[in-house]
Amino acid sequence: MVILETERLLFRAHETEDLEAYCAMETDPEVRRYVGGAPRPRDVAEKRFHDEMAANACNRLGLWAMVYKPEGSYIGRSGVYPDIDQDGKEIAGHGKLSFFIAPGYWGRGLATEAGRAFVRYGFVELQLKRIGATVQVGNAASVRVLEKLGFTLLRTETGEHRSFYHFELLPS
Ligand SMILES: CC(C)(COP(=O)(O)OP(=O)(O)OC[C@H]1O[C@@H](n2cnc3c(N)ncnc32)[C@H](O)[C@@H]1OP(=O)(O)O)[C@@H](O)C(=O)NCCC(=O)NCCS
Repeated sequence: MVILETERLLFRAHETEDLEAYCAMETDPEVRRYVGGAPRPRDVAEKRFHDEMAANACNRLGLWAMVYKPEGSYIGRSGVYPDIDQDGKEIAGHGKLSFFIAPGYWGRGLATEAGRAFVRYGFVELQLKRIGATVQVGNAASVRVLEKLGFTLLRTETGEHRSFYHFELLPS
């Protein structure tokens, strides 16, 4: 089932046939550079796919498979997932935006296109009151996408090994 469509992209639940493309991304050091730091071993990526992506298929707050319409190919995932408080409890009315795109498709405005669609989906369809985003310091492309979408930098969390920017967007 297609939940969202843009000019070049469509979003649907993950399917078994997405496994190879999903694992190719999760085992790629370039993709993982600012999200976890190290590539995932193949078996870990596979388990994650089965546990989290396929099982999450019916949750409207989650990450969706991203299909590049001109080629009909799986090129990543995006969506608004639940935001949690310090005790790990979901915060009602809050979501967090995320996007992962295969390197061959970087620099074509696709994360911005996906992000714009999910911001609208989050505020209009899901009636969220706030959408946040967390980005590792150094991930300039991701920061730029959030800037283009109108997100505001709230604070910088400085860690021993990695630091993170926390962004937010409120309904207009
Ligand atoms: C971050 C990511 C989603 C961006 O996807 P994308 O489709 O290339 O993004 P877009 O093309 O929509 O926009 C990228 C913007 O960043 C800019 N950019 C790219 N690399 C940059 C860099 N090193 N420094 C500054 N700006 C940069 C681009 O020029 C573009 O801005 P512009 O439209 O003003 O020219 C993609 O690189 C990715 O999936 N990375 C791996 C996973 C990841 O880090 N996800 C984000 C987790 S927070």
